[in-house]
Amino acid sequence: MPKSNIAVLGAQWGDEGKGKIVDMLTPHFATVARYQGGHNAGHTVYVDGRKFVLHLIPSGILHPGIACIIGNGVVIDPQALFKEVDELARMGIDVDGRLLISEKAHVILPYHRELDVLSEARRGERKIGTTSRGIGPAYEDKIGRRGIRVCDLLGDREALAQEVRENVNARNRMIIDSTLDWKPLFDQVVAFGERMRPWVKDVSLYLAESMTQGKNVLFEGAQATLLDIDHGTYPFVTSSNASVGGVCTGLGVAPKAIGGVLGVAKAYTTRVGEGPLPTELSGDLAERLREGGQEYGASTGRPRRCGWYDAVVVRYSARINGLDAIALTKLDVLDGLPEVKLCTAYKTATGTMTEFPADLRLLAGAEPVYETLPGWTSPTKGMTTFEQLPAEAQRYIRRLEETSGAACAIISTGSDRTETIVRQHSVVSDWLL
Ligand code: GDP
Ligand code: IMO
Ligand code: MG
Repeated sequence: MPKSNIAVLGAQWGDEGKGKIVDMLTPHFATVARYQGGHNAGHTVYVDGRKFVLHLIPSGILHPGIACIIGNGVVIDPQALFKEVDELARMGIDVDGRLLISEKAHVILPYHRELDVLSEARRGERKIGTTSRGIGPAYEDKIGRRGIRVCDLLGDREALAQEVRENVNARNRMIIDSTLDWKPLFDQVVAFGERMRPWVKDVSLYLAESMTQGKNVLFEGAQATLLDIDHGTYPFVTSSNASVGGVCTGLGVAPKAIGGVLGVAKAYTTRVGEGPLPTELSGDLAERLREGGQEYGASTGRPRRCGWYDAVVVRYSARINGLDAIALTKLDVLDGLPEVKLCTAYKTATGTMTEFPADLRLLAGAEPVYETLPGWTSPTKGMTTFEQLPAEAQRYIRRLEETSGAACAIISTGSDRTETIVRQHSVVSDWLL
C-alpha cells in the first residue's frame, strides 16, 4: 500500500495514456476515484492482449476488489454508464458492490447531446470540435443551477417531474420548432434512477472514512490540463477542471488529502478537436506518429493531430498541478526516427516566450523553438528498466526532464501493463514502497 493518495492526470491535451498508467498503479491502492469529465473520456487499457475502453468508470475496475468511484464533479449519461457496465460484464468484469456513484453528480440527458450538436453548428468555423456527448450543456445546466443530480432521480417524484418539465420547456424555447414532450423523458429518467440506485453513495464520506482506515486512493483525471476550463486553451477546452484543483471540488476531499501528483505526458504531443497546437506536424512525419501511435480517438475514432513534444506545455502543467513527477508514455512510438525534437519556447509577435500564454492569438501564430536530438535505431518497445534504453533515448528523456521541470518517474514502452519502467529511487518508487 502506498504512503499516500495520489492524483494521476493529463499534462497535455488528453489521450496521454492515463488509463494505462492508472491500471498499472491500481494494485497499490484500495480505491480509484474519477473527479471530473464524463463519457467524453476514452481510456484504453490492454490486459494480456484484451482491449478494454473505459469512459466513465475508473480505469481501476479491471483489478478485482478495487472500489471505483464516480465523483460529484463527473457528469453522468445514464445510458452511457449502463452500456459500459454491460460491456464490462460481457468481458467478465462485475462492478456490483464496488462501483460507487456520488449522489451529487449531475446527469446528462438526451437533450444535452442535441444542444451540444446544435451549439457546435451555430459556432460554424469557430466550433470547438467537441465529442458531441452533451458534456458542455450538462455543465452549463449545473453552473446555471438548473441541473438534475443523481439524488434527484431517487427522491421525490413530484419535484423531479417539475425539474424535468422546466428543463424541457427551457430547451424547447432554445430550439426553434421544438416541442419535446417532458412526460416520456420523465419516465425514462425515473427508470435510470432505479437502475443506478444500488451504486449511489455519499462519496465524500466514503472516501473520508476509508482514508481514516489507512486505505489509499488514486484520483483519476480525465481530459487534461490544456483542456481545463480555467487553465486550458480556452475556449477550445472541455467544461470541467481536469487539473488538480478538480480533485477537491469533484470528490469532496480536502487539499491535504492529495499526497502526490503524477502528470501523464506522451513522448510527443497529440490533440483531438479544434484549437491551437504549436508543435503540430503535417505530412509524412505526422502520419508516421499517427500510425505508429495509433492516434485515433478512443471515443469518437477521429484522427488525432500529432506534433513534437512541447516542454512549454508540460512545464506549465507542472506548475498548475504541482507535478511531483511525469509518467512519460509511448516512447516506443519514436523508435527508429533519425532525429527527435523538443519545443522549449515559442517565437511570437511579442517576442520569444518560455511561458504558456493565455491569449490564443499569440499561440496561434507561435513558432516553436526546437532542440534537435539524435534518434535511436534499436527499439525501446517493451523495456522495463531505464538502463536497457538506447543511450540516445536516455539522453532524450534527460533533456525532456530538464526542459519540463519534472522527472520521469515512469516511462511507458508499450500499451501492456508490463511494458513499463518505474525508475528506481524516484518519487513513484517511494510512494509505492
Ligand atoms: P487516455 O485517454 O489518457 O487514457 O489515453 P487513450 O487511452 O485515449 O490513448 C492512449 C493510447 O495509447 C491507448 O490506446 C493505449 O493503449 C496506448 N498506449 C499507452 N501507453 C503506451 C505506450 O507506452 N506505447 C504505446 N505504443 N501505446 C501506448
Ligand atoms: P481523455 O480522458 C482528448 C476534447 C474534444 C474537444 C474538447 C471539448 O480520453 O484524455 P467536450 O466533448 O469535452 O465538450 O469536447 O475536448 N476532449 C478530449 N480530447 N481526450 C479526451 O479525454 C477528451 N475529452 C474531450 O475533442 O476538443
Ligand atoms: Mg483518451
